[in-house]
Amino acid sequence: MEKLANRPELVLSGVVVTGDRRGGAELGFPTANVELDEDAAELPEDGVYAGWLEDEGGERRLAAVSVGNRPTYYGERGVRLLEAYVIDFEGDLYGQHVRVGLAARVRGQERFSGSAELIAQMRRDVEAVRALAGG
Ligand SMILES: Cc1cc2nc3c(=O)[nH]c(=O)nc-3n(C[C@H](O)[C@H](O)[C@H](O)COP(=O)(O)O)c2cc1C
Repeated sequence: MEKLANRPELVLSGVVVTGDRRGGAELGFPTANVELDEDAAELPEDGVYAGWLEDEGGERRLAAVSVGNRPTYYGERGVRLLEAYVIDFEGDLYGQHVRVGLAARVRGQERFSGSAELIAQMRRDVEAVRALAGG
């Protein structure tokens, strides 16, 4: 976390809204879907980022953040979203106004052949984020 918190970063803010709930139930990677504030910074290019999510109480936690339209499920037609998987966290963030920091781009968005392939990649993403944060 130290290392990521010290990098130049893009910070976005918004409210956590309900997603398709596929993330938690089917994939085992529940995500906070952030509906950006109107005056929030613009989303950067699609991809998976190492960063953090700060809740309303000011608590910052490490996160693997996805920016994109979930091509695995929606082809090219999906809505562009900012979703954060908060690492080592099991709480409920719905309705909270949060800040999300993006510190490093890990990879681009990919269209996987199914959920199993996406899950395997998300596991690697989380390890990559932990490594960038200092282990
Ligand atoms: C770290 C991370 C990486 C992701 N990478 C991809 C990806 O490469 N391709 C993709 O289609 N979706 C990707 N997603 C988005 C998932 O498809 C999405 O979180 C899942 O469908 C759950 O959506 P829901 O929150 O609306 O239920 C990623 C999500 C996270 C958190």
